[in-house]
Amino acid sequence: MKASWETLLESVNGCRMCRLCENRTHPVPGEGDPNARLMFIGEGPGRDEDEQGRPFVGASGKLLDTMIHAIGMERCEVYIANVVKCRPPMNRNPEPDEAAACMPYLRQQFVLIRPRVIVLLGKIALRYVLGEDRPISAARGIWVERKGVFFMPTYHPSALLRDPSKKREAWEDFKAVRRKLAELEQADEAGPQQ
Ligand code: URA
Ligand code: SF4
Repeated sequence: MKASWETLLESVNGCRMCRLCENRTHPVPGEGDPNARLMFIGEGPGRDEDEQGRPFVGASGKLLDTMIHAIGMERCEVYIANVVKCRPPMNRNPEPDEAAACMPYLRQQFVLIRPRVIVLLGKIALRYVLGEDRPISAARGIWVERKGVFFMPTYHPSALLRDPSKKREAWEDFKAVRRKLAELEQADEAGPQQ
């Protein structure tokens, strides 16, 4: 079946494909510009997100907003989603079977949005989106290209709140994202190469 936003949101809102449905208040499908060039992927909803049904609205979200503003963009111009759409109890990491059950929704979001640049916020996003199980400190700052889409792994905002000394590196990563978007825009304006 061809994916559409309507069927996607309906499916997520009624989803019982993994045990995380049992404790959720609201599923958090994601939000933003459905045609965004830039997408952010976090881990899963926390308490504030579970209460409101919106991604990154707690303390981590405030920091993410600040960083989005710092590269000259607004939250409504990007798309923000998570690996799992329902809150893991006590904010534990999603289990592999939960991430696997939820991944088709994220894939449908990629297909519908077709972002050019995707920022992976933290180790969980890196592990489940790119299949790379390594520390975010080793992967961050290095572009990974898959089928013309550019992935930038960086620290999760909650890691930056715990250890502000990591903010300098995160800022480098965000500046690299800003440069990549400008570069891609220029290439698009120049049209296809002869
Ligand atoms: N942390 C995440 O990974 N995602 C959210 O939506 C909020 C906090
Ligand atoms: Fe469904 Fe994903 Fe929620 Fe699990 S986390 S119940 S797969 S929407």
